[in-house]
Amino acid sequence: MASTLEIRDLRCNVEDKEILKGVNLTVRQGEVHAIMGPNGSGKSTLAYTLMGHPRYEVTGGEVLLDGENLLELPPDERAKRGLFLAFQYPQEVPGVSVANFLRTAVNALRGEEPAGPAGSGKNLAALTALQKEIEAALEQLRWDSSFTRRYLNEGFSGGEKKKGEMLQMAVLKPKFAIMDETDSGLDIDALKDVARVFNNLRGPELGAIVITHYQRILKYIEPDFVHIMVDGRIVRSGGRELAEEVEAKGYDWIKAQVG
Ligand SMILES: Nc1ncnc2c1ncn2[C@@H]1O[C@H](COP(=O)(O)OP(=O)(O)OP(=O)(O)O)[C@@H](O)[C@H]1O
Ligand SMILES: [Mg+2]
Repeated sequence: MASTLEIRDLRCNVEDKEILKGVNLTVRQGEVHAIMGPNGSGKSTLAYTLMGHPRYEVTGGEVLLDGENLLELPPDERAKRGLFLAFQYPQEVPGVSVANFLRTAVNALRGEEPAGPAGSGKNLAALTALQKEIEAALEQLRWDSSFTRRYLNEGFSGGEKKKGEMLQMAVLKPKFAIMDETDSGLDIDALKDVARVFNNLRGPELGAIVITHYQRILKYIEPDFVHIMVDGRIVRSGGRELAEEVEAKGYDWIKAQVG
């Protein structure tokens, strides 16, 4: 049965200021939801709150994954339930190679023992399978394997960091992915790389929230639904045409309508 992520009247404070003022959104596995909205409207706050960033204090509402309250779980447990966040601003992690990071993350999510140098046959088989998955994702990104030997995001260009988030997503295969402006700062080829990885993952197993400012990515990642967030709430929902309307007219007309 398809899983459902339900956000009900979610409210959240950052440093005692109310940012999310009652967000309602239901995402089913298999659906792609785009969220657009002016700068500062709370899109990243929603992403971080869903993932469990400690700075974001939930003051009301619920987030349910198949009925289980995610808000009571730490971020790693949310990840184990299949939630994934591609960051708007990926952090550099010097000293941890991309390959090591991916291996550790996969082992943590799947609850497997990390394979040591003298790993058992089973671990070696798992490692080889993972290596193949990483190589397949690298190919979709048109990256060579030297990237996986570098430290996570260290010295990566803005666009490379975003592609790195997609590499993680391809390998971790989340049930529900939140992509926070993964398209921002990408050249047209990189944008297509990101869309290629996404569209390969797309299907009945993936529910996605794609946060973006631009219509452009929605040509390559076609959303089933488009939502507009203004001042901590989703104030309009529709299809592709809503994104086109926003592109043409900006947000003032929506802001005027919602007061
Ligand atoms: N640590 C913080 N301290 C104070 N205010 C914060 C903090 N983090 C976020 N905010 C405020 O919360 C509001 C929402 O920010 P958020 O990053 O969620 O917006 P956004 O919709 O993602 O914007 P953008 O499109 O620019 O990425 C902004 O006014 C921001 O300044
Ligand atoms: Mg943001």
